[in-house]
Amino acid sequence: MCGIVGIVGTTPVAPRLLDALKRLEYRGYDSAGVATLENKKLTRERAKGKLVNLENRLHEHPLSGLIGIGHTRWATHGAPTEVNAHPHATESVAVVHNGIIENFQELRAEIRAAGRTLQTDTDTEVVAHLITLALARGLDPVAAAAETLAKLEGAFALAILFAHEDDLLIAARRGSPLAIGYGDGEMYLGSDAIALAPFTNRITYLEDGDWAVVRRKSVSIYDENGVEARRPVSHFVASNLMVDKGNHRHFMLKEIYEQPEVVAHTLGHYVDFAERRVALPEGAEIDFAGLDRLAMSACGTAFYAALVGQYWFEQLARLPVDLDIASEFRYREVPLGANGLSLFISQSGETADTLASLRYCREHGQKIGAIVNVPTSTIAREADYILPTLAGPEIGVASTKAFTCQLTTLLALAIGAGRQRGHLSREDEEQLVQAAIEMPRHLSQALKLEDEIEGLAKELSRVKHVLYLGRGKSFPLALEGALKLKEISYIHAEGYAAGELKHGPIALIDETMPVIVVAPYDKVFDKTVSNMQEVAARGGRIILLTDEEGARSASVDTMKTLILPSMPAAIAPIVYAVPVQLLAYHTAVFMGTDVDQPRNLAKSVTVE
Ligand code: AGP
Repeated sequence: MCGIVGIVGTTPVAPRLLDALKRLEYRGYDSAGVATLENKKLTRERAKGKLVNLENRLHEHPLSGLIGIGHTRWATHGAPTEVNAHPHATESVAVVHNGIIENFQELRAEIRAAGRTLQTDTDTEVVAHLITLALARGLDPVAAAAETLAKLEGAFALAILFAHEDDLLIAARRGSPLAIGYGDGEMYLGSDAIALAPFTNRITYLEDGDWAVVRRKSVSIYDENGVEARRPVSHFVASNLMVDKGNHRHFMLKEIYEQPEVVAHTLGHYVDFAERRVALPEGAEIDFAGLDRLAMSACGTAFYAALVGQYWFEQLARLPVDLDIASEFRYREVPLGANGLSLFISQSGETADTLASLRYCREHGQKIGAIVNVPTSTIAREADYILPTLAGPEIGVASTKAFTCQLTTLLALAIGAGRQRGHLSREDEEQLVQAAIEMPRHLSQALKLEDEIEGLAKELSRVKHVLYLGRGKSFPLALEGALKLKEISYIHAEGYAAGELKHGPIALIDETMPVIVVAPYDKVFDKTVSNMQEVAARGGRIILLTDEEGARSASVDTMKTLILPSMPAAIAPIVYAVPVQLLAYHTAVFMGTDVDQPRNLAKSVTVE
């Protein structure tokens, strides 16, 4: 995750860009830089390491431009060096970027074929070159930017500065947040309102797919189809900013929408985007090759992440997994192999049952890995390997972005284990990592289902019972969907393995209990269609979550079919979390419950 800022100002902007970057330092700080325009010439100062290094550089080489952009980096593509620090620039264009441009290798080839030389290992640089090439063909800056944006694939936010335009910034948002701040005769851009608090309290959050033409006295916003769009200007109170809901009604919804960005951020901690391979971070270089078995334990949503992880470890790495909920694991007296590895998954890192299970494994000679969202937590401190989920603070009691970041971490580990254990070829690894790199884009697409889901939730809020079904890696998603619904809407819900339906639960089926089926078109899809037919034959009402191929192939009438993007089977469990999260969220809103702090619950269960 990186922080980006921009100012179209009336006084020198470099000091204020630096101030805004300091407020974004929580997003990453392995290098930073600013670019301003002075006498129609782009001038940059960049520095490796913390922002104080950039501050010192600017003292030595002050920049006087009245328009500029800035960036604080958490490296994904390219090492955290000064050369790879943003802004990236050509003679005509400077760019700062947060997120992933998936097709950057293809675009690099296109740029080289056009005779231009790339200076860095980053994906960002391609944006500057593509716009420069479009300008050279006679397009004006806005048209050049629009043409370039249409070529980019991935989830990102961008701010763009032009050498011959002292009253123009282009902003673009696709999956990573970007806000426009309205000043008096000035305009501002920032990754969030926190960055812009010193300048203004009037903010517009761009919506996914939006891009904007920002000038001192005007802002024009266009949607993903290039149609001019009107977005609300909200006023925020600076004191609430540090845990800012953005323009969302609840923290839970904000955190659902943060998933494209934080999944990309978490993925970047475990894979090399350029090489498309797993690269376990320093201090977490786990040797999976020597393992006979892997133990995993967690509670609640974290357990459902572990359950998906079991499928990945067993299928991709042929590594047998002993898995149980921590409240059972800690008393089962599991026989553990010598020198084994035990993984514990916990958002808070403080869950008592999970900690007790960790200590049982530690006492029995296991190496301990902790997949946690709080790297300073008790569980982290008692682990040999800390594997952070970089979801950022999760305020809503119902876990959402932590879940998808847990899954992202487990997928990377399973791919790495498969490679180490000789069950995945280098080509297999590249394909799986590429699939993971595409996740943020698919997550952004899944979020576009919100309006359809809100309509469905209104119907769901009228029922007393709901059944979720899934098969294979979708079975844990059925369990998670049921948990989400019951814990925030208080409607009774159960998740079941679809194949289990005929062993009893089918007795429940009638028109009063909707059946939500999680079923991407994968190798077990047809089996799940049979289960849906069993439900339909008994008057059951089906809500199907699938993709285009699944919708075409499902020969059964449904109450509603939600169509997600088609994607590799390996990443489906992560992307299909979004519709079950949104369905639970909107049902709870219709029920009028306290979505962020549901009754009887706590964000971290630190007692048995
Ligand atoms: C999930 O929405 C619940 N809030 C709950 O099940 C949670 O996942 C569980 O208590 C585990 O918490 P942890 O991840 O902090 O260990």
